[in-house]
Amino acid sequence: MVPLLTTLTAALLATGAVAHPGGHMNRDVLRRQAHLDHPERRSVEHCKKDLVASGWVREQHMRREARLHELRVAAGFAKPHELVRRDPAEVEENYGAEAACTLDPEVTEGPYYVAGELIRKDLLTGEKGAITHFDLNIIDTSTCKPITDAYVEIWGSNATGVYTGVQARGNGDGSNSAVFTNALRGVQPTAANGTASFITIIPGHYVGRANHIHTIIHHGAKLLPNNTISGGTVSHMGQFYIEQNFLGQVEKTSPYNTNKQKQTLNNQDILLNMGKQGGDDPFMKVSLIGSKIEDGLYAYVDVGVNPKATRKPDPVNFWTDKGGIPVPGSGWAGYPDTCRNCGFGGGRPPTVKGREAEAEAEIEVQDLDAE
Ligand SMILES: *[C@@H]1O[C@H](CO)[C@@H](O)[C@H](O)[C@H]1NC(C)=O
Ligand SMILES: *[C@@H]1O[C@H](CO)[C@@H](O)[C@H](O)[C@H]1NC(C)=O
Ligand SMILES: *[C@@H]1O[C@H](CO)[C@@H](O)[C@H](O)[C@H]1NC(C)=O
Repeated sequence: MVPLLTTLTAALLATGAVAHPGGHMNRDVLRRQAHLDHPERRSVEHCKKDLVASGWVREQHMRREARLHELRVAAGFAKPHELVRRDPAEVEENYGAEAACTLDPEVTEGPYYVAGELIRKDLLTGEKGAITHFDLNIIDTSTCKPITDAYVEIWGSNATGVYTGVQARGNGDGSNSAVFTNALRGVQPTAANGTASFITIIPGHYVGRANHIHTIIHHGAKLLPNNTISGGTVSHMGQFYIEQNFLGQVEKTSPYNTNKQKQTLNNQDILLNMGKQGGDDPFMKVSLIGSKIEDGLYAYVDVGVNPKATRKPDPVNFWTDKGGIPVPGSGWAGYPDTCRNCGFGGGRPPTVKGREAEAEAEIEVQDLDAE
């Protein structure tokens, strides 16, 4: 443990990540490392044989091809009979090795998780950006079968890098203007094939992090009459990314091109680069529906989880019909200045000893969580 922590500390110091307003980076990095080190960790790739043998890889590939085609037809870019299929045998062969087919990133909820969000497919609620039909398959890496009874939750920042439902210094202009909308946040059940589908946008960038979409996977949650969920457990907290060249094109379109925040590229994001270790691939696989980004996008990703793992997401706010209200005792309250989870990046200049002590504590907590 000690050499690892020393390396991490050195890496953080070298990149200057600790000095960023996005001070939760360090906590994320340590959690991620604890996950990678966990003896029972398994990625989706480990299930390749079973998923191919059961026909699931082929089925899902064909379903996704058909879905993209359906979107193209609906938008007037193809005729119904024009579906061109890729050889499914080739897809099976490449499953798990090909970009964006598998991933298993285990990271933190971050400072802007709002609990109590609505079950809904369309998350746009008036936000503008590169509209993305996003399709996630959830796989149980302990049984190598799709999970048909989970709830998938996602949230991302808007095209100019602001999160809804929260107020914090550095989240947009720091005013409370975004507190009263739940745009770009929502929950969907996985259907019989283990698939959850959303309509959202490619997230904008904000200081200190590469563009990303957060996810949390819920198990055993109860459906409430007002279309929200409660209780159950959370097995997985992750983040998805967008390939840099494509993202560069998105950033040139309106309204992304009005974002004044400094951008962090994928290769500068420590957390993302850790996410690529151990065979994980945290990139969404994105296709154009038409001839340009503005015509809309279709994206998918497969997520491997161990449903018995229990993470403890720490929401800063709870969504109500009056907007996001603070969760009492949240470790993110006061972010980025005074919060309990801010760690040493949250404004207090730490000593190296302080960092190592904090890191040890994090990893112990994480090991307990993963039991
Ligand atoms: C699962 O996907 C396959 C392939 O698209 C489809 O034929 C089947 O109906 C789906 N099953 C369910 C229960 O949705
Ligand atoms: C993102 O949200 C902020 C706060 O609500 C808002 O001021 C801004 O206009 C939004 N960005 C876009 C592109 O709409
Ligand atoms: C949904 O119902 C729960 C339980 O009564 C309540 O706590 C929550 O505020 C409601 N959510 C919304 C968005 O109305």
